[in-house]
Amino acid sequence: MKIYYAAASPFVRKCLVAAHELGLRERIELKTAAAHPVNRDMAVVAHNPLGKIPTLLTDDGAVLYDSRVICEYLNAQGDGRLIPREGPARWSALVDQSLADGIMDAAVLARYETVARPEALRWNDWTTGQLQKVASGLDALEARAGGFGGRVDIGTIAFGCALGYLDFRFSSLGWRDKRRNVAAWYERFAARESMVATQPPAA
Ligand code: BEZ
Repeated sequence: MKIYYAAASPFVRKCLVAAHELGLRERIELKTAAAHPVNRDMAVVAHNPLGKIPTLLTDDGAVLYDSRVICEYLNAQGDGRLIPREGPARWSALVDQSLADGIMDAAVLARYETVARPEALRWNDWTTGQLQKVASGLDALEARAGGFGGRVDIGTIAFGCALGYLDFRFSSLGWRDKRRNVAAWYERFAARESMVATQPPAA
């Protein structure tokens, strides 16, 4: 398998953490891609018309995107332990993934507003609105994190990657203040081999 990737992308990281946890990481070759919301990397566009990462090329010639589909595929290639097959555990894991992906989405949009948009066109209310989504997403996570225990599934992996991205790009946000359950859970989760091996580069 080959994955178009950028080490800073939390969505790519989610796929790579999933691959690590499933014992599949060595089967995936990394192909560096230029991630930009406007200037698409044509090497990625050749496979994925959206030009977005992560994009996965499977060994039998399929092209898979986005990160949720890739994680489903990896889970099916492995022993299926990351996405419960049925019952309440399935819906908890999937909605946790949606909440975490939403936090990542909002954080990445806020990041692009400052690094990709020309200064004269920037809109502070946009950035504030995205960071409000991040904050209320984290508040919802605070209500859940106390019950995570040792859960390792697509939901907790996605939360780990969302929090890692906030530490990476928004270290001044102080998300741990008033979110002690999340902070305590993340400290343990971030020490997993899969998380350590996929840390974003120094900012
Ligand atoms: C970043 O550099 O923050 C970034 C890179 C790729 C995708 C998303 C974010």
